[in-house]
Amino acid sequence: MALDFTGRVAIVTGAGGGLGRQHALALAARGAKVVVNDLGGSVDGSGGSASAAQQVVEEIRAAGGEAIANGASVTDFAAVQAMVQQAVDAWGRVDVLVSNAGILRDKSFAKMDLADFRLVLDVHLMGAVHCCKALWPVMTAQKYGRIVLTTSSSGLYGNFGQANYGAAKMALVGLMQTLAIEGLKHDVRVNCLAPTAATRMTESLFPPDMLERFVPEAVVPAMLVLAGQDAPNRTTLCAGAGGFEAAHVTLTQGAYIGMGPDAPEALQARLDAVRDRRGEAVPASGAEQGANEMRLARGG
Ligand SMILES: NC(=O)c1ccc[n+]([C@@H]2O[C@H](COP(=O)([O-])OP(=O)(O)OC[C@H]3O[C@@H](n4cnc5c(N)ncnc54)[C@H](O)[C@@H]3O)[C@@H](O)[C@H]2O)c1
Repeated sequence: MALDFTGRVAIVTGAGGGLGRQHALALAARGAKVVVNDLGGSVDGSGGSASAAQQVVEEIRAAGGEAIANGASVTDFAAVQAMVQQAVDAWGRVDVLVSNAGILRDKSFAKMDLADFRLVLDVHLMGAVHCCKALWPVMTAQKYGRIVLTTSSSGLYGNFGQANYGAAKMALVGLMQTLAIEGLKHDVRVNCLAPTAATRMTESLFPPDMLERFVPEAVVPAMLVLAGQDAPNRTTLCAGAGGFEAAHVTLTQGAYIGMGPDAPEALQARLDAVRDRRGEAVPASGAEQGANEMRLARGG
């Protein structure tokens, strides 16, 4: 099944370099018309220049593709709305959003300023929210949309020095869970991508012999599958160096402890049974937790 994007319109944020650039190049190479968005700042989010996005647009055009540059910061909702309008004015629709723009402000939590915490949430979480919000009426009206939110292993599983980034990245999984449910009836599918790649953001973390394996290009197949016509819905795909995994938020079968005065001690004593992963499920919505607790309460 070829992943063909002919006739599709895509917006890729943070596409002036790193992973976003590869996403934009790959979508264009497979036929999509692409809005290449990038603020053009440094890894910590300071500065800005339109040339990063423009260069990628020129690469796409040189290869025979169609693209336009956009220098909006995803933190600015009015500018994001204008970007969506730019795509609609140029090509009449938007089929794919790859929300990829991001920054780092790493520090141990003890040393982290709240301003750095808020800024990282603003770029990763609110940046994605702005793009989804501006695109939602377009995608629901045309009854087609594919949204890929970029999460991270740091959010899914934690990483020293990244409390701000991890919180923001896991928030995107939460955003996906509900948008995927709400988008379903309009064929708007929402998924997450958790990449591992050596980019300017991460290259110092990789041993030299791994740099050539963890190239950003190796993440692109996961993005294409999540952005394609036959995309799954509500799936978190992990990708790096040619390896792919899926991450799930699961619910164990649990145990009935009851509500008696000794429930705290009983729960403590049976914590292993409550956490026992045999038979755990991936709930289709939050309501399934309550339904499982009802089952336990009924003795089932
Ligand atoms: N590289 C990895 O291993 C890795 C792992 C997990 C998640 N990620 C995520 O993947 C995405 C891409 O990261 P990358 O590794 O390619 O790093 P990168 O720094 O090369 O790319 C991020 C891009 O986002 C742009 N950007 C930053 N703030 C912006 C804003 N407000 N508006 C528009 N554009 C903005 C930057 O200019 C930059 O080009 C990020 O969301 C990052 O958190 C990367």
